[in-house]
Amino acid sequence: MHEKIIILDFGSQTTQLIGRRVRELNMYCEIVPYNKFPENTTGIKGVILSGSPYSVNDANAFKTDLSKIRGKLPVLGICYGAQFLAYSSNGKVESTDSREYGRANLATVNSEDPLLKGIEPGSQVWMSHGDTITELPSTFKIIASTNDVEAAAYQIEGEPTWGVQFHPEVFHTTDGIKLLDNFLNICGCAKDWTPASFIESTVNDLKEQLGDDKVILALSGGVDSSVTAVLLNKAIGKNLTCIFVDHGLLRKNEFENVLKDYEHLGLNVLGINAKEKFYKELAGVTEPEKKRKIIGKGFIDVFDEEARKLKDIKWLGQGTIYPDVIESLSITGTVIKSHHNVGGLPAKMNLKLVEPLRLLFKDEVRRVGIELGMQPHLIKRHPFPGPGLGIRILGDITPEKVRILQDADDIYISLLREWGLYDKVWQAGTILLPVRSVGVMGDERTYENTVALRAVTSTDAMTADWAPLPYEFLAKVSNEIINKVRGVNRVVYDISSKPPATIEWE
Ligand code: XMP
Repeated sequence: MHEKIIILDFGSQTTQLIGRRVRELNMYCEIVPYNKFPENTTGIKGVILSGSPYSVNDANAFKTDLSKIRGKLPVLGICYGAQFLAYSSNGKVESTDSREYGRANLATVNSEDPLLKGIEPGSQVWMSHGDTITELPSTFKIIASTNDVEAAAYQIEGEPTWGVQFHPEVFHTTDGIKLLDNFLNICGCAKDWTPASFIESTVNDLKEQLGDDKVILALSGGVDSSVTAVLLNKAIGKNLTCIFVDHGLLRKNEFENVLKDYEHLGLNVLGINAKEKFYKELAGVTEPEKKRKIIGKGFIDVFDEEARKLKDIKWLGQGTIYPDVIESLSITGTVIKSHHNVGGLPAKMNLKLVEPLRLLFKDEVRRVGIELGMQPHLIKRHPFPGPGLGIRILGDITPEKVRILQDADDIYISLLREWGLYDKVWQAGTILLPVRSVGVMGDERTYENTVALRAVTSTDAMTADWAPLPYEFLAKVSNEIINKVRGVNRVVYDISSKPPATIEWE
């Protein structure tokens, strides 16, 4: 049983970020809905209350009884969390005339307080609330103020409970990590959650859970499924069979390259070439969701057929990661993304699910991958959608269009790598538009296809900005594509952010 910090989620957009920060400090933590504090408190070293989109005074605000926690474990309330602590002890929280939003600086700091150790007056903090605490209960002692917010931070006399009305988890709070680290020290955390310790305990757990059972796993070439495969391989070796399906919509040479990479890693991989099946089923289909469904179902059919040839499979391995798990538990009711390409499989095949990464954030998956000895180029790969180029060829799909897009994409991605830009963007790719336009090449009039280039920066794909790639770079890519890819005479750059656009065009 890991030592852990529990983060009670009152619905703030930054709750996950609190979790990531605590993990970065090498402390294991779990995010649970605000009203689901675990019955079994073994191993819990402290509790953080998150922010919230609500005001404590709203009729439908998230409220919970903290009597099982307060005074028994160290508690840190952040923003709404701090206001809720004050409110539920008969303090007063009121909406302020001017929303307190953005940068502020601590004007006074009680550096004797263990939470603020090493933090000086002047330190920048990030405020983001419409309410403020206007009357503190008598046992609440102010330990830091800004010019506008008197109770920027407080401590409750006689119990190990603190509140901060700013957000230590966001980057703009300069000493935020220090403050969170101070809190972990107050909690007496050993802070020994590292990729190496995760691997050791997970491999042991997997050995116990799976025994001599056989597992299959769908590889996509992406980071999550690859790291899942390597971890499972370390635990059960040849009892793991990986299946990698070529649906004909992968990047240029990707099937061969990925198989080669996996071979290095000692994985037992079946590569299945199913291109023809997919091209046939997709012929003439233009509607995006229909294309997705055909590709998703085709994938399941191929996988199912191959898996049935293997005997006695009991488990399906999946690369589910923590943000998916949190989303599915979410108090605000967001449903898990329908992107999971193998979603229908476990029920259809009557398999149990094994998901060794379900407690990790994406950056932790990468760190675990590196610790497992995987090559950085595998770990740093951009996300690539399950339906692949199928949702980047707008309109119907033909092998010829796939060829054009693969060639254009290959030029773009290779140049991104050459120019040292690949790791600076979250994701990049080319889109083949269903428009033709006029051009001239030499003395000839052309009437050919347009390719759009997409590159975005993001931290989680939920929101994304278009990446400001240098003009000289874009000019080079455009030139190369138009000169070398037969069938393309025009290249454009997509300058839309998400929202309101999405990363993919379909
Ligand atoms: P959007 O286009 O929704 O994409 O902004 C967000 C992220 O999800 C990926 N994506 C998919 N991944 N199957 C997948 O496995 C899909 O159908 C799919 N659609 C979008 C997209 O590449 C981006 O990383």
